[in-house]
Amino acid sequence: MDEMTQNPVGLPRISEPAPEFSANTTQGPIKLSQYRGKWVMLFSHPADFTPVCTTEISEFARRNEEFVQRNVQLIGLSVDGVPSHIAWTRDIANLAGVPVPFPIIADLDMKVSRLYGMLHPGESATATVRSVFFIDDKGMIRALVYYPLSTGRSVDELLRVFDSLQTTSQHAVSTPVDWQPGMPVVVPAPGTAAAVLDREQAEAQGLTYRTWYLRMKQVAGK
Ligand code: BEZ
Repeated sequence: MDEMTQNPVGLPRISEPAPEFSANTTQGPIKLSQYRGKWVMLFSHPADFTPVCTTEISEFARRNEEFVQRNVQLIGLSVDGVPSHIAWTRDIANLAGVPVPFPIIADLDMKVSRLYGMLHPGESATATVRSVFFIDDKGMIRALVYYPLSTGRSVDELLRVFDSLQTTSQHAVSTPVDWQPGMPVVVPAPGTAAAVLDREQAEAQGLTYRTWYLRMKQVAGK
């Protein structure tokens, strides 16, 4: 059995270019590459007029400004058509009290869903799972998460991942467990025995040691 037969869901991979696409949306035709210079959160939901999806899109709309502040453009997707998306987002605007400010792709031919591995046949043959692709301002995939149909996503966690990705890119550091903006970050472990001995000097530069391979520091901004 070849790899595609065993695993028909080809997933984009971290640190590879996000596959380019053009698509029809609630805001007209778009291409992924038109957002270069912005970060993009491309996310799929299973279907319009379904309860969990309604809570998600309402909350994404209500908190859109927090993504905008991070230079993040939201782009939604499901395999429903534009008229359905429009009717549903008008309902959501009433429920949430704010309009849905980001485009939602009408992926009727499943072109983008297949390209991004959003269809997981064991979960549903026809509906996209709850996938999220974190794409940076140069068009690279930086993180991806997949949730089943039954589990709604956490906006706080999505924002936290963007904060981590942007902080680690800007300062060449990593973020530890349960990190939140403002907390210390992890600096790379020393690569030589001599560097390990530089502990006193490093502490003078504001690094704090937990052990020789776990050093933390505070960074400005987030
Ligand atoms: C929902 O959004 O509520 C939902 C969608 C598809 C399957 C199950 C739940």
